[in-house]
Amino acid sequence: MPESDLAARLEAALDGALGAKRARHSRAVAALAAELCEREGLDPERGRVAGLAHDLCRALPAAIQAELAAACPVPRAAELAANARFAHGPAAATVLASEYGCSDPDILEAVAFHTLPRPDSGVLTRILYLADKNEPGREFLDPAERERIVALPLAEAFRLSVEAVVDWIRSEGLPLAPETADLYDSVRVSVP
Ligand SMILES: [Fe+2]
Ligand SMILES: [Fe+2]
Repeated sequence: MPESDLAARLEAALDGALGAKRARHSRAVAALAAELCEREGLDPERGRVAGLAHDLCRALPAAIQAELAAACPVPRAAELAANARFAHGPAAATVLASEYGCSDPDILEAVAFHTLPRPDSGVLTRILYLADKNEPGREFLDPAERERIVALPLAEAFRLSVEAVVDWIRSEGLPLAPETADLYDSVRVSVP
């Protein structure tokens, strides 16, 4: 199915699957991901689909999220099924593949790992992470800083976004998942 048809189907399903705030967030992520794809030479419709789909399972009961995540077709993504914070990504990738017929491995990877890209994750996964953390409705960055980050070259924007998330987690006194710490270390290794 062409990405534009997929985006239209996801768009139609969004309000039934999510509350108003999360549906608005998903649309904002889709718009920013499409814009970043365009800038990076990727088909913007792939970014739109990834953005619309990424939180599709967020409102499902935890046990269903875990069950869907455990069946995720993306390599290594099922490992996230046991973690309540991360399971909605692989769960959404499962639904996107099985119910929407999406077979684009980059879109499925981006959705599955949107909460926690791996150090070797692809460009679309980085774009979706960046869009998820920096869409205009997000509150943990001030708007000027967010716009500055998004305008930077992708690798630098991604690094700053990971750092901002980790700073926020620390400032809230929340525990840092080991996978997030690994990601943080990996993006900082490349700092000149
Ligand atoms: Fe999410
Ligand atoms: Fe999100």
